[in-house]
Amino acid sequence: MIGDSLEHYFTNNSNLKSELRTILYEKKGFVFTFFSDLGVFSKNHLDYGSRLLIDNIIENENKITNILDVGCGYGLLGIVLGKIYNCPVTMSDVNKRCIHLSNMNIEKNKIMGQALLSDCYSNITGTYDLIVTNPPIKAGKKIVFNILDEAYKYLNKNGHLWFVMRKDHGAKSMLKLIENRYTCEIICKSKGFYVIKAKIR
Ligand SMILES: C[S@@+](CC[C@H](N)C(=O)[O-])C[C@H]1O[C@@H](n2cnc3c(N)ncnc32)[C@H](O)[C@@H]1O
Repeated sequence: MIGDSLEHYFTNNSNLKSELRTILYEKKGFVFTFFSDLGVFSKNHLDYGSRLLIDNIIENENKITNILDVGCGYGLLGIVLGKIYNCPVTMSDVNKRCIHLSNMNIEKNKIMGQALLSDCYSNITGTYDLIVTNPPIKAGKKIVFNILDEAYKYLNKNGHLWFVMRKDHGAKSMLKLIENRYTCEIICKSKGFYVIKAKIR
């Protein structure tokens, strides 16, 4: 049921009030400013799982020439990684407010790239060295599976899909569902979150 306080962050509600706020973040000597607002995921703080994902990607990946951030929210993953790897980023979300905020944040943080409204990969073209996602658990298992399973079509030959998921949100069963498609490695376990790196088989 979607309504009132149960309004989920992935819905498009044009009546939703706006209360813009900023969140600061420092990584690798860069200081980032994120505009955030009502109705988006983790609106007041940067999600622990997403920060864990960023830290593990930075520790494990050297050269990356382009990035796709699926379910970008206000753009945390794509913007931080795009800056650190100094490469173009495509970001997508099904929520219009997220796209608006991500494009503001791209400009604010001087990143190469753009955010596009897209249901999973519906408006995505091209292939990428890195696909990154903190998938929308609240959108349901089918959408999460779709985002992970379909990523292979948009990965470069030696590219990697990285994602974060909580153990109690079914990380292990999701790994089973995608194992025919990818070789998956659990790179880090922390506070109930798994950070996973997947390579096409
Ligand atoms: C857990 S949040 C992650 C947000 C951001 N990447 C972060 O790390 O802070 C998942 C995002 O996926 C988006 N989403 C939900 N369903 C989607 C779909 N079908 N296609 C694309 N994005 C979707 C939500 O709007 C939400 O912004």
